[in-house]
Amino acid sequence: MHWSRKRNRARARVPIRRVLAAILFCLLLAGCTAPVLTPQGYFSDRIHDMWQLMFPISIVVFVVVLLTLFYALFRQRRPGEGENLRAGRTMVLFGGAILPGIVMIILMVEVVAILVDVSLIGGQLERQGENRGLIGQPNVAEPEAEVADLVVDVIGRHWWWEVIYPNQGIVTANEIHMPEDALVLVRLTSDGVMHSFWVPALNGKTDMLPGSISNTWLHGYYTDAYRGQCAEYCGIGHAKMRLLTITQTEEDLEVYLSREAEPAPEPTTEETIRGQAVFVEQGCAACHAIRGLSDAGEIGPDLTHLLSRREIAAGTLVNTRGNRAGWIVDSQSIKPGNMMPPFPMPPSDLQALLAYLDTLE
Ligand code: CUA
Repeated sequence: MHWSRKRNRARARVPIRRVLAAILFCLLLAGCTAPVLTPQGYFSDRIHDMWQLMFPISIVVFVVVLLTLFYALFRQRRPGEGENLRAGRTMVLFGGAILPGIVMIILMVEVVAILVDVSLIGGQLERQGENRGLIGQPNVAEPEAEVADLVVDVIGRHWWWEVIYPNQGIVTANEIHMPEDALVLVRLTSDGVMHSFWVPALNGKTDMLPGSISNTWLHGYYTDAYRGQCAEYCGIGHAKMRLLTITQTEEDLEVYLSREAEPAPEPTTEETIRGQAVFVEQGCAACHAIRGLSDAGEIGPDLTHLLSRREIAAGTLVNTRGNRAGWIVDSQSIKPGNMMPPFPMPPSDLQALLAYLDTLE
């Protein structure tokens, strides 16, 4: 038996080192920043307020529960000591009902206050069926739309975001431009399955449901770019369904919006004219709209001002000529399951097509 005791003692030494390592690791993690913990707008700030109250309370509750547990496990009952039922009952009543009740009430008051604050202006207002026509339509009769500095409609597609500025007549994809320090109403819907619209630095998640509209709000204090991500599993392209939210000064936004509202320019050089013909011959126009050329395509993103976007394929690739070429020839190897088939074509055709796409500024 002697050896086993020794072994136990030896084993007992390791966990302390591990515990220290775990604590060190936690301290290191504490230096990390996540968008949800560094709110950049009014709504995320309010949600963060909630976290700042809930997190310390949770830690205290966790520690107290653990201490009580260890006390119950390891306390030694003195010889002859009977069970003190009265003290036990008082402890259960106080620790099991009264104290948790008080904590719950404190949390509930705070949470409800924040929810009301975020949703009174924010209103997760859902409208069914017939009102789906609202999406993409300029509509100032809505109370929310009157409060908003900008209205943006977003439709969840397979697996990208169609972004519409209904009052400006603009259709684009995967990128929302908005004024800094302003209230932006985002009306959400989906064309197929459920998605969830989430820009962690600016607001919480909002489900996008086919056949109904959910409203959410964006607000950003500063000019910057914030990553968004689909937060509801929606199929094979889910992880690569990202978007970019860009907050700009009033003037920059105006320049952006007025440029986006224009139709695509006519190609002028021999190569770009040929590229436009390739675009039509290859059937690209069946899925992609280019205002000024063809409005029919609805399956893929509108390409009228493709070059104004920072990324393609819903945040999968940086929008460079090389990446555009790779995407056209074999998008399935880049984002498996996306709706675009491979388009192998002679190099001269591809170069002409790329030259034409380069004109879509
Ligand atoms: Cu869309 Cu997940």
